[in-house]
Amino acid sequence: MNIALIGFMGTGKSTVAQYIHKVLKLEVVEMDALIAEREHCTIEEIFSKKGETYFRDLETELLRELQCKENVVISCGGGVPLRTKNVELMKKNGTIIMLTASPETILQRVYKDDSRPLLKDKKDPEAIREMMEVRDKVYKEAADMIISVDQKSVEQIFEEIQEKLRKMEMNHV
Ligand code: S3P
Repeated sequence: MNIALIGFMGTGKSTVAQYIHKVLKLEVVEMDALIAEREHCTIEEIFSKKGETYFRDLETELLRELQCKENVVISCGGGVPLRTKNVELMKKNGTIIMLTASPETILQRVYKDDSRPLLKDKKDPEAIREMMEVRDKVYKEAADMIISVDQKSVEQIFEEIQEKLRKMEMNHV
């Protein structure tokens, strides 16, 4: 069983991935952290020094590499589903779970954090809403399951995921 968590920046993919790791004992792959570690610099530095396309290529390469893995939960960077190839790779060997949140929730979470280059000049709900709208369709098309995280604890989110996974399994029997 593999799970890929997708969704806009600040929807809590990393937190949910860590919780799934703890409870279901799946190996966790934090894409941004692994890419940054391998490149010996921050995501922000990769964007500024090498450009976004270079970063996006690293994401695709990493997803290819993860194809051979089993029992992993992948916390994807928010831009991963923007490439059709990436969605194909994720779909091949896992369930794609989209986390959603309101622009207000996102803003609250990313306000003081400058590690995300694409949100640097977008620290207001309208700018975030616009960016989310552009991405929403792509995320939803990729997703096998959509979970709203607003006002929910990680435990509640996990319960919902499990419930939906159970239903999906029953539909496949
Ligand atoms: C990005 C999301 C970030 C990171 C990079 C680009 C995006 O990951 O990959 O800053 O395009 O949405 P998080 O979603 O984990 O913040």
